[in-house]
Amino acid sequence: MRITASPNSCEDDMRSRKTAFIGVLLRGVEDHYVLGRGVSDSIRLDAQHLLWGMYLGHILHPQIPITEGMKIAELGTGTGIWLFDASRKLPPAVELHGYDLSDGQFPARHLWPENVILGVMDSLIDPPSNLVGQYDVVHLRMWASNLKENDTAPVLEHAKKLLKPGGYIQWEDADLVNQAVCGGEAEQFAGMMRELFKQVGLQYEWVADLPNRFPSHGFEVLHTGNKKFHHDLIQLCTNTYLMAIAEILRGIERNSVASDSTISVWVHEETLSKLLQNTKHGMVYNWIPITVLGQKKN
Ligand SMILES: C[S@@+](CC[C@H](N)C(=O)[O-])C[C@H]1O[C@@H](n2cnc3c(N)ncnc32)[C@H](O)[C@@H]1O
Repeated sequence: MRITASPNSCEDDMRSRKTAFIGVLLRGVEDHYVLGRGVSDSIRLDAQHLLWGMYLGHILHPQIPITEGMKIAELGTGTGIWLFDASRKLPPAVELHGYDLSDGQFPARHLWPENVILGVMDSLIDPPSNLVGQYDVVHLRMWASNLKENDTAPVLEHAKKLLKPGGYIQWEDADLVNQAVCGGEAEQFAGMMRELFKQVGLQYEWVADLPNRFPSHGFEVLHTGNKKFHHDLIQLCTNTYLMAIAEILRGIERNSVASDSTISVWVHEETLSKLLQNTKHGMVYNWIPITVLGQKKN
Protein backbone atom coordinates (compact mmCIF):
# COMPACT_ATOMS: atom_id res chain seq x y z
CA MET A 1 0.00 0.00 0.00
CA ARG A 2 1.26 3.46 -0.86
CA ILE A 3 0.72 6.11 1.77
CA THR A 4 0.15 9.60 0.42
CA ALA A 5 -0.37 12.72 2.45
CA SER A 6 -0.21 16.33 1.35
CA PRO A 7 2.45 18.46 3.07
CA ASN A 8 -0.33 20.52 4.61
CA SER A 9 -2.11 17.60 6.22
CA CYS A 10 1.22 16.44 7.71
CA GLU A 11 1.92 19.92 9.07
CA ASP A 12 -1.58 20.23 10.55
CA ASP A 13 -1.23 16.83 12.16
CA MET A 14 2.16 17.73 13.61
CA ARG A 15 0.82 21.03 15.02
CA SER A 16 -2.13 19.36 16.74
CA ARG A 17 0.05 16.65 18.26
CA LYS A 18 2.60 19.17 19.49
CA THR A 19 0.01 20.89 21.66
CA ALA A 20 -1.14 17.54 23.04
CA PHE A 21 2.23 16.73 24.59
CA ILE A 22 2.82 19.18 27.37
CA GLY A 23 5.69 19.16 29.82
CA VAL A 24 8.25 17.11 27.91
CA LEU A 25 11.06 18.56 25.85
CA LEU A 26 10.90 17.30 22.26
CA ARG A 27 14.50 17.46 21.21
CA GLY A 28 17.44 15.10 20.79
CA VAL A 29 20.14 14.94 23.46
CA GLU A 30 23.80 13.89 23.57
CA ASP A 31 24.35 10.68 25.49
CA HIS A 32 26.74 7.71 25.72
CA TYR A 33 24.24 5.09 24.54
CA VAL A 34 26.35 2.07 23.58
CA LEU A 35 23.96 0.63 20.95
CA GLY A 36 23.25 2.28 17.59
CA ARG A 37 20.38 4.46 16.39
CA GLY A 38 20.70 4.05 12.61
CA VAL A 39 18.25 2.33 10.26
CA SER A 40 19.73 -1.17 10.62
CA ASP A 41 19.84 -0.74 14.41
CA SER A 42 16.11 0.14 14.32
CA ILE A 43 15.39 -2.93 12.20
CA ARG A 44 17.25 -5.06 14.77
CA LEU A 45 15.04 -3.63 17.54
CA ASP A 46 11.90 -4.27 15.53
CA ALA A 47 13.02 -7.88 14.86
CA GLN A 48 13.54 -8.30 18.61
CA HIS A 49 9.97 -7.08 19.10
CA LEU A 50 8.87 -10.05 16.98
CA LEU A 51 11.07 -12.30 19.13
CA TRP A 52 9.48 -11.03 22.36
CA GLY A 53 5.97 -11.23 20.89
CA MET A 54 6.41 -14.86 19.84
CA TYR A 55 8.01 -15.71 23.19
CA LEU A 56 5.39 -14.06 25.41
CA GLY A 57 2.25 -14.38 23.30
CA HIS A 58 0.89 -11.13 24.73
CA ILE A 59 1.46 -7.37 24.66
CA LEU A 60 0.11 -6.65 28.13
CA HIS A 61 0.47 -9.33 30.80
CA PRO A 62 -2.93 -11.07 31.21
CA GLN A 63 -3.03 -10.07 34.91
CA ILE A 64 -3.28 -6.38 33.93
CA PRO A 65 -6.93 -5.30 33.57
CA ILE A 66 -7.66 -3.48 30.29
CA THR A 67 -9.94 -0.54 31.00
CA GLU A 68 -11.53 2.14 28.81
CA GLY A 69 -9.25 5.18 28.56
CA MET A 70 -6.39 3.63 30.53
CA LYS A 71 -2.98 5.35 30.16
CA ILE A 72 0.20 3.42 29.41
CA ALA A 73 3.75 4.81 29.38
CA GLU A 74 6.72 3.08 27.82
CA LEU A 75 10.17 4.19 29.02
CA GLY A 76 13.11 3.92 26.61
CA THR A 77 10.69 3.34 23.73
CA GLY A 78 13.33 3.24 20.92
CA THR A 79 11.45 2.95 17.61
CA GLY A 80 8.10 2.88 19.47
CA ILE A 81 7.41 -0.58 18.03
CA TRP A 82 5.86 -1.97 21.24
CA LEU A 83 3.43 0.96 21.41
CA PHE A 84 2.60 0.79 17.71
CA ASP A 85 1.77 -2.90 18.13
CA ALA A 86 -0.17 -2.17 21.35
CA SER A 87 -2.28 0.40 19.48
CA ARG A 88 -3.49 -2.42 17.18
CA LYS A 89 -4.13 -4.90 19.99
CA LEU A 90 -5.72 -2.68 22.67
CA PRO A 91 -8.95 -0.66 22.46
CA PRO A 92 -8.54 2.66 20.58
CA ALA A 93 -9.40 4.72 23.70
CA VAL A 94 -6.25 3.48 25.49
CA GLU A 95 -3.65 6.30 25.59
CA LEU A 96 -0.12 5.18 24.72
CA HIS A 97 2.82 7.47 25.56
CA GLY A 98 6.42 6.61 24.69
CA TYR A 99 9.45 8.32 26.20
CA ASP A 100 13.10 8.07 25.28
CA LEU A 101 16.35 9.88 25.95
CA SER A 102 16.61 10.41 22.18
CA ASP A 103 14.05 10.83 19.40
CA GLY A 104 16.63 9.42 16.93
CA GLN A 105 14.66 6.21 16.25
CA PHE A 106 11.11 7.64 16.38
CA PRO A 107 9.16 7.23 13.13
CA ALA A 108 8.08 10.53 11.54
CA ARG A 109 5.32 12.13 13.57
CA HIS A 110 2.59 11.92 10.93
CA LEU A 111 3.09 8.10 10.90
CA TRP A 112 2.20 7.60 14.58
CA PRO A 113 -1.10 5.82 15.34
CA GLU A 114 -3.88 8.15 16.59
CA ASN A 115 -3.54 7.12 20.24
CA VAL A 116 0.29 7.12 20.37
CA ILE A 117 2.44 10.10 21.38
CA LEU A 118 6.24 9.98 21.64
CA GLY A 119 8.52 12.40 23.44
CA VAL A 120 12.01 12.90 24.82
CA MET A 121 12.49 12.31 28.54
CA ASP A 122 15.35 11.01 30.71
CA SER A 123 13.90 8.24 32.88
CA LEU A 124 16.83 8.28 35.29
CA ILE A 125 15.69 11.57 36.85
CA ASP A 126 12.37 12.69 38.35
CA PRO A 127 9.56 13.03 35.77
CA PRO A 128 7.94 16.47 35.32
CA SER A 129 5.18 17.12 37.87
CA ASN A 130 2.37 17.02 35.26
CA LEU A 131 3.16 13.33 34.60
CA VAL A 132 3.26 12.22 38.25
CA GLY A 133 0.57 9.66 39.15
CA GLN A 134 -0.88 9.69 35.61
CA TYR A 135 -0.36 6.12 34.39
CA ASP A 136 -2.09 2.76 34.89
CA VAL A 137 0.84 0.84 33.41
CA VAL A 138 4.55 1.53 32.85
CA HIS A 139 6.32 -0.75 30.37
CA LEU A 140 10.09 -1.19 30.05
CA ARG A 141 11.97 -3.52 27.76
CA MET A 142 15.64 -4.14 26.97
CA TRP A 143 17.17 -1.63 29.38
CA ALA A 144 20.17 -3.96 29.83
CA SER A 145 22.75 -1.56 28.35
CA ASN A 146 21.16 1.64 29.72
CA LEU A 147 22.25 1.44 33.36
CA LYS A 148 25.59 2.08 35.02
CA GLU A 149 26.97 0.14 37.99
CA ASN A 150 23.96 -2.19 38.17
CA ASP A 151 21.95 0.74 39.57
CA THR A 152 18.23 0.15 38.98
CA ALA A 153 17.06 2.57 41.71
CA PRO A 154 16.66 5.76 39.58
CA VAL A 155 14.52 4.12 36.87
CA LEU A 156 12.39 2.18 39.39
CA GLU A 157 11.74 5.40 41.34
CA HIS A 158 10.91 7.22 38.09
CA ALA A 159 8.42 4.48 37.11
CA LYS A 160 6.86 4.52 40.58
CA LYS A 161 6.31 8.29 40.35
CA LEU A 162 4.56 7.99 36.96
CA LEU A 163 2.16 5.29 38.21
CA LYS A 164 -1.20 5.73 39.91
CA PRO A 165 -1.56 3.79 43.21
CA GLY A 166 -2.27 0.17 42.23
CA GLY A 167 -0.69 0.73 38.78
CA TYR A 168 1.38 -1.98 37.10
CA ILE A 169 5.03 -2.13 36.00
CA GLN A 170 5.74 -4.65 33.24
CA TRP A 171 9.43 -5.17 32.51
CA GLU A 172 11.06 -7.51 29.98
CA ASP A 173 14.84 -7.71 29.70
CA ALA A 174 17.83 -9.64 28.40
CA ASP A 175 20.12 -11.42 30.87
CA LEU A 176 23.54 -11.25 29.18
CA VAL A 177 25.31 -12.90 32.13
CA ASN A 178 23.44 -16.21 32.20
CA GLN A 179 23.42 -16.91 28.49
CA ALA A 180 22.58 -19.98 26.39
CA VAL A 181 25.65 -20.36 24.15
CA CYS A 182 26.62 -23.58 22.29
CA GLY A 183 29.51 -24.26 19.90
CA GLY A 184 33.26 -23.91 20.52
CA GLU A 185 33.75 -20.62 18.63
CA ALA A 186 30.61 -19.10 20.10
CA GLU A 187 31.69 -20.04 23.64
CA GLN A 188 35.14 -18.57 23.06
CA PHE A 189 33.59 -15.34 21.74
CA ALA A 190 31.26 -15.17 24.76
CA GLY A 191 34.37 -15.30 26.98
CA MET A 192 36.00 -12.48 25.01
CA MET A 193 32.84 -10.35 25.32
CA ARG A 194 32.63 -11.02 29.07
CA GLU A 195 36.20 -9.69 29.47
CA LEU A 196 35.46 -6.65 27.28
CA PHE A 197 32.28 -5.79 29.21
CA LYS A 198 34.32 -5.92 32.42
CA GLN A 199 37.04 -3.71 30.91
CA VAL A 200 34.60 -0.98 29.81
CA GLY A 201 32.33 -1.19 32.87
CA LEU A 202 29.23 -2.60 31.14
CA GLN A 203 27.47 -4.50 33.92
CA TYR A 204 24.49 -6.76 33.41
CA GLU A 205 24.24 -8.63 36.75
CA TRP A 206 21.21 -6.51 37.77
CA VAL A 207 18.97 -8.08 35.11
CA ALA A 208 18.61 -11.51 36.75
CA ASP A 209 18.27 -9.77 40.11
CA LEU A 210 15.48 -7.43 38.95
CA PRO A 211 12.58 -9.22 40.74
CA ASN A 212 14.44 -8.90 44.08
CA ARG A 213 14.74 -5.15 43.59
CA PHE A 214 11.02 -4.37 43.13
CA PRO A 215 9.85 -4.63 46.79
CA SER A 216 12.24 -1.99 48.17
CA HIS A 217 10.71 0.50 45.67
CA GLY A 218 7.13 -0.16 46.77
CA PHE A 219 6.21 -2.77 44.14
CA GLU A 220 4.63 -6.11 44.92
CA VAL A 221 5.96 -8.79 42.53
CA LEU A 222 3.01 -10.54 40.85
CA HIS A 223 4.86 -12.64 38.30
CA THR A 224 8.43 -13.42 37.18
CA GLY A 225 9.87 -15.55 34.37
CA ASN A 226 13.31 -16.62 33.10
CA LYS A 227 12.62 -19.46 30.68
CA LYS A 228 15.05 -19.88 27.77
CA PHE A 229 13.83 -19.38 24.20
CA HIS A 230 12.04 -22.39 22.73
CA HIS A 231 14.05 -23.96 19.90
CA ASP A 232 12.01 -22.27 17.13
CA LEU A 233 13.11 -18.83 18.42
CA ILE A 234 16.80 -19.64 18.96
CA GLN A 235 17.88 -18.53 15.47
CA LEU A 236 16.05 -15.18 15.73
CA CYS A 237 17.65 -14.55 19.12
CA THR A 238 21.11 -15.57 17.88
CA ASN A 239 20.93 -13.36 14.78
CA THR A 240 19.59 -10.29 16.54
CA TYR A 241 21.93 -10.70 19.53
CA LEU A 242 24.98 -10.88 17.27
CA MET A 243 23.75 -7.77 15.43
CA ALA A 244 23.38 -6.02 18.81
CA ILE A 245 26.92 -7.01 19.77
CA ALA A 246 28.19 -5.48 16.52
CA GLU A 247 26.42 -2.25 17.58
CA ILE A 248 27.91 -2.49 21.09
CA LEU A 249 31.43 -2.91 19.67
CA ARG A 250 30.97 0.21 17.53
CA GLY A 251 29.53 1.99 20.60
CA ILE A 252 32.52 1.02 22.77
CA GLU A 253 34.85 2.34 20.07
CA ARG A 254 32.83 5.58 19.72
CA ASN A 255 32.75 6.20 23.48
CA SER A 256 36.44 5.36 23.89
CA VAL A 257 37.42 7.88 21.20
CA ALA A 258 35.14 10.48 22.83
CA SER A 259 36.74 9.90 26.25
CA ASP A 260 40.32 9.63 24.90
CA SER A 261 40.78 6.11 26.30
CA THR A 262 42.34 3.35 24.20
CA ILE A 263 40.09 0.34 23.90
CA SER A 264 40.69 -1.87 20.90
CA VAL A 265 37.80 -3.97 19.61
CA TRP A 266 39.08 -5.05 16.19
CA VAL A 267 39.82 -8.64 17.32
CA HIS A 268 36.25 -8.89 18.63
CA GLU A 269 34.92 -7.48 15.36
CA GLU A 270 36.90 -9.99 13.29
CA THR A 271 35.78 -12.93 15.46
CA LEU A 272 32.18 -11.73 15.30
CA SER A 273 32.31 -11.42 11.53
CA LYS A 274 33.45 -15.08 11.33
CA LEU A 275 30.67 -16.16 13.71
CA LEU A 276 28.10 -14.33 11.57
CA GLN A 277 29.14 -16.47 8.59
CA ASN A 278 28.45 -19.61 10.62
CA THR A 279 25.07 -18.98 12.20
CA LYS A 280 23.40 -21.61 10.02
CA HIS A 281 25.37 -24.54 11.44
CA GLY A 282 23.54 -24.95 14.73
CA MET A 283 25.49 -22.36 16.69
CA VAL A 284 23.47 -20.91 19.58
CA TYR A 285 24.19 -17.43 20.96
CA ASN A 286 21.20 -16.50 23.11
CA TRP A 287 20.54 -14.31 26.12
CA ILE A 288 17.98 -15.40 28.72
CA PRO A 289 14.67 -13.50 28.71
CA ILE A 290 13.73 -12.07 32.13
CA THR A 291 10.17 -10.90 32.79
CA VAL A 292 8.79 -9.18 35.88
CA LEU A 293 5.29 -7.90 36.58
CA GLY A 294 4.86 -5.68 39.63
CA GLN A 295 2.09 -3.62 41.18
CA LYS A 296 2.55 -0.32 42.99
CA LYS A 297 1.26 -0.64 46.52
CA ASN A 298 -1.41 1.89 47.56
C1 LIG B 1 17.70 -1.41 23.48
S1 LIG B 1 16.68 -0.04 23.23
C2 LIG B 1 15.08 -0.73 23.59
C3 LIG B 1 13.94 -0.02 22.90
C4 LIG B 1 12.54 -0.55 23.22
N1 LIG B 1 12.29 -0.58 24.64
C5 LIG B 1 12.31 -1.91 22.63
O1 LIG B 1 12.27 -2.90 23.40
O2 LIG B 1 12.16 -2.02 21.41
C6 LIG B 1 16.97 0.96 24.67
C7 LIG B 1 16.36 2.35 24.57
O3 LIG B 1 16.48 3.02 25.83
C8 LIG B 1 16.78 4.39 25.59
N2 LIG B 1 17.39 4.98 26.80
C9 LIG B 1 18.66 4.84 27.24
N3 LIG B 1 18.83 5.53 28.39
C10 LIG B 1 17.65 6.13 28.66
C11 LIG B 1 17.20 7.01 29.70
N4 LIG B 1 18.02 7.39 30.68
N5 LIG B 1 15.92 7.45 29.65
C12 LIG B 1 15.09 7.07 28.65
N6 LIG B 1 15.46 6.26 27.64
C13 LIG B 1 16.72 5.79 27.66
C14 LIG B 1 17.69 4.34 24.38
O4 LIG B 1 17.76 5.60 23.73
C15 LIG B 1 17.03 3.25 23.55
O5 LIG B 1 16.08 3.79 22.68
